[in-house]
Amino acid sequence: MKHGTLTTDNHAALWHGRFKEGPDAAAVEFETSIYVDERMAMDDIKGSKAHAKMLGETGIISKAESAKIIKGLESIQKDLESGKLKIDYSAEDIHSFIEATLTDRIGEAGKKVHTGRSRNDQIALDERLYLKRVIPEVQDKILNLVNVLAKIAEKNTDTLMPGFTHMQHAQPVTLAHHLCAWAWSLVRDNDRLSDALKRIDYSPLGSGALAGSGLPLNREMVAKELGFKGVTQNSLDSVSDRDYCIEFASCFSLIQMHLSRFCEEIVLWSTTEFGFIDLSEKWSTGSSIMPQKKNPDFAELIRGRTGKVYAQLNSLLTMMKGLPLSYDRDMQEDKEPLFNALDTVASCLTVFTYMIESAKWNKKVMAEGCEGGYLNATDVADYLVRKGMPFRTAHGVSAKAVRLAIDAGCKLEDLCIEEFKSCSDLIDEDIYDFISPRSCVEVRKTTGGPASEKVKQQIKQLKKIGGKK
Ligand code: ARG
Repeated sequence: MKHGTLTTDNHAALWHGRFKEGPDAAAVEFETSIYVDERMAMDDIKGSKAHAKMLGETGIISKAESAKIIKGLESIQKDLESGKLKIDYSAEDIHSFIEATLTDRIGEAGKKVHTGRSRNDQIALDERLYLKRVIPEVQDKILNLVNVLAKIAEKNTDTLMPGFTHMQHAQPVTLAHHLCAWAWSLVRDNDRLSDALKRIDYSPLGSGALAGSGLPLNREMVAKELGFKGVTQNSLDSVSDRDYCIEFASCFSLIQMHLSRFCEEIVLWSTTEFGFIDLSEKWSTGSSIMPQKKNPDFAELIRGRTGKVYAQLNSLLTMMKGLPLSYDRDMQEDKEPLFNALDTVASCLTVFTYMIESAKWNKKVMAEGCEGGYLNATDVADYLVRKGMPFRTAHGVSAKAVRLAIDAGCKLEDLCIEEFKSCSDLIDEDIYDFISPRSCVEVRKTTGGPASEKVKQQIKQLKKIGGKK
């Protein structure tokens, strides 16, 4: 570990000058963040280039020095990308490594890159740049899944399946309707990310350690160069704000919660008892002892990893709750949970999409699930409502018919017309057509309802949002 040593080497800790003694090796190991923040190397370079450009244009450093710094940073960027330059993990953090490497490469001018800057505003900038870069990749995964669900739905607008409340048979719906329901939750997840992105679109650079700078920095110029909408308005807030980490972790928790609930259904649906779905062998695993097994481990792992994502949100909230203004080193601990939640959500979205895309749907079993569970009892009541009976009375008549059928051990539609008439005179032969599972679905034409014509409208909207044909 080099970064704490008292040397004049460019790679000594950026702050070593006032110390008589270097830190203990264990202290160096304890405080380093480079293993976590290395993933922001490109963002750090991008920010430094914009800062150096501004320093040159405002005359704080010479144009020649500014150009030299930018060239040096570009060479570091290129060499990191090609693998020619390896990260030195003895550096305290990614900022220190890049600054030290720059000075190695271009000499004295490199020592000017940190003019008017602190790592406190630099890290806040790097995080914002990083999130602006990677969140759209997560959004692409969400929209791709929306599109995949819409495509499966398109093929299943007439695939009947039982709808559940309390995990009990409720009313018939279609597979398309059910899949679209999950797709809409993902659409909201995508919107939430877009909304959170709006709030990080302000550059904190120029806030310094906490109190801005006495040098004539042009913060707006840097913000514009980096593609931000504007600059943050209070230097203390700028180096101390980690709301965005919490906000994204919260968005990730919601995405993961949706995936987890959907996975719960997939686990249930792939049981022998349900048998609605047949997962591809590519996205299933077996047992080391029970040769017959095909287990839905991927759905279970996604469901299982949800706890980890929630834990990261909790970790961030707890880390921040007692911090006075402005920067406190505790805040270095923001990145691990943020990145962990991000990585987990991104991989779960990818795997979930493969799993659902490759699954087969047992349409016959699903349709059979609509029989025999009295899912059409509401429709018997609605039939009577259409004939003028008040709904509450009709509910009672239908309940009487259900009771008759339960006692006879048959379906509602197996009751003979006399039995129906014993419940209400208003019931005629046309009841049978009215209460078939297909009719129960097709009659529900309210906006957002399961009738195939309505679901087709949803699918059209979802495909437009998903962005693919
Ligand atoms: N590594 C720190 C972080 O991630 C940034 C550096 C600020 N360090 C400091 N001692 N002021 O928050």
